[in-house]
Amino acid sequence: MTINEIRQKYFDFMVARGHQIIPSSPLVPEGDATTLFTSAGMQPMMPYLLGQKHPLGTRLADSQKCFRSQDIEEVGDNRHTTFFEMLGNWSLGDYFKKEQLEYFFRFLTDKKDGLGLDPNRLSVSVFAGGDGVDKDEEAISIWKNLFAKTGINAKEGHQIFAYPAKKNWWSRSGTPDKMPVGEPGGPDSEVFFDFGEDRKLHENSPFKNEPCHINCDCGRYLEIGNSVFMQYVKLADGSLKELPQKNIDFGGGLVRLAAAVNDDPDIFKTDIYFPVINEIEKISGHSYEIADHQPSMRIIADHLTAATFLIKDSVFPSNKAQGYVLRRLLRRAAVKLHFLMGSREGITQLAGITTSIVDIYKSIYFAGDDTIYVQSAIAQEIGKFEKSLDKGIKELEKKADVSGKDAFDLYQNHGFPLEITIEILAQLGKQVDIQEFQKEFEKHQNVSRTSSTGMFKGGLADQSVIVTAYHTATHLLHAALRQILGNHVSQKGSNITSLRLRFDFSHPEKISDEKIEEIQSLINEKISEKLKVTKEELPKEKALEQGALAFFGQKYPDVVTVYTVGDPKNYFSKELCGGPHVESLSELAKIKIVKQETLGSGVRRLYLQFV
Ligand code: ALA
Repeated sequence: MTINEIRQKYFDFMVARGHQIIPSSPLVPEGDATTLFTSAGMQPMMPYLLGQKHPLGTRLADSQKCFRSQDIEEVGDNRHTTFFEMLGNWSLGDYFKKEQLEYFFRFLTDKKDGLGLDPNRLSVSVFAGGDGVDKDEEAISIWKNLFAKTGINAKEGHQIFAYPAKKNWWSRSGTPDKMPVGEPGGPDSEVFFDFGEDRKLHENSPFKNEPCHINCDCGRYLEIGNSVFMQYVKLADGSLKELPQKNIDFGGGLVRLAAAVNDDPDIFKTDIYFPVINEIEKISGHSYEIADHQPSMRIIADHLTAATFLIKDSVFPSNKAQGYVLRRLLRRAAVKLHFLMGSREGITQLAGITTSIVDIYKSIYFAGDDTIYVQSAIAQEIGKFEKSLDKGIKELEKKADVSGKDAFDLYQNHGFPLEITIEILAQLGKQVDIQEFQKEFEKHQNVSRTSSTGMFKGGLADQSVIVTAYHTATHLLHAALRQILGNHVSQKGSNITSLRLRFDFSHPEKISDEKIEEIQSLINEKISEKLKVTKEELPKEKALEQGALAFFGQKYPDVVTVYTVGDPKNYFSKELCGGPHVESLSELAKIKIVKQETLGSGVRRLYLQFV
């Protein structure tokens, strides 16, 4: 079955069960400044999951274009991509668990109306309970019955497995503790397809020394769909309350379903990627059958597919927001092709590969002249990067040790995003000091901002002292907000100049003047206590176990730096951070929160100054 056939089959199946088919929303969410990309089918459905009436009723289905930039590092194996289509169906307070699991099981296994997969090769996971929500015994019993109808005696530990929230709870921000106030979420149930032991997938994988299980990423099991029982909302006191309307949010990876139907665990062998892989083979002169080439070829195929869809949805390469992500995808694809071919000659041919991508999706997502539009944007970007890529690689090859400052100079002079430098160095078997790069980067940002506005008069040395002080104030503010407003507060971003700290964080409503006063006094109280700031290097897991705050969605190295404010046994703040920070709060002046703004749904911004 082709991708187009599977998508159509799903639509027909859902229409026969009373669903209306809705079109995919764009990859850049409309009217939602809090997120750069649509990364799940439910994102555009948020208002309806929270109770607003949908004009087409209570049963909806679609195939939503999704982009997950956070998965960029995973691309290269047999299953991960940044861009993908997610099949979705929703019950907005209509049917619930029993019908949903039955629909999906039937779609997967029915030979006539569905995909005809062998139920013996399916396993499922359910929520094991936690955070005040019981274990999902109901889902277990529904699954047992569904398997029993096909003559299979499934039970817990055999085709049915229970996992805690980390695996079987879904909300846009993850587990219940991470959900901001007002966020909907719930337990979920995933279905996995077993590609079989005889393929020796596990033995060849990085997981070979660990026992295989359905959530193992070795390649044997592939998650092909997730039914979320979206029935809770997070409250300000940290608890979960039942939503007035119980919803179903189902998402299934279209290309993963195709892999299961093909009985081939490599999604890049499906009809949407293989023509692209063939083009890369032609240009590079290398065969995909050689295992060493596969990661690079998969990255190029994924990144170009994602770039094609992003450009179609009006994103252009730039140094900001979505444009920066697109730039990074294209430059990364160019670096991969460069190393695959051993020269930069081929990288101008990258744009041409998109003809095959537009062709594949033509009938659904693209119009006649889209190829020209997409290709000219890519050709322009690659043209800019081509010469500097060559120069940059030569510079990196020359140096035995690459410092953070070198990496920053490459960024300044040749437009090399840090990730690209890391990528190239990995190919050359070298590393760079990321924290040093970040320090250079911040120094430069502050210098250029202040010199262009003429705001800063004190010279560089003084400036770095002020910036360091604001760094520490960032941790104090984060801790104070969590202490006073609640643990749903999590940092979304921050920006420091020598004049102020700007801090963005999740919180659903305006903060009253009294609360602002309280937050301010708490911070000033800690400053007058002259608390010590200590720095230590810890394994990441250990730091998180100790309760150190980490930036949601950010990848950290295995060993991290942790800054603690106050007595280590009874600290005021503990965060993973590259620093630098002051050594004692005695170095800080008193602070004042000078302004509050809203950044759209659920995110607020505060400005803080030393007075
Ligand atoms: N919202 C669920 C997911 O993205 C279906 O996995």
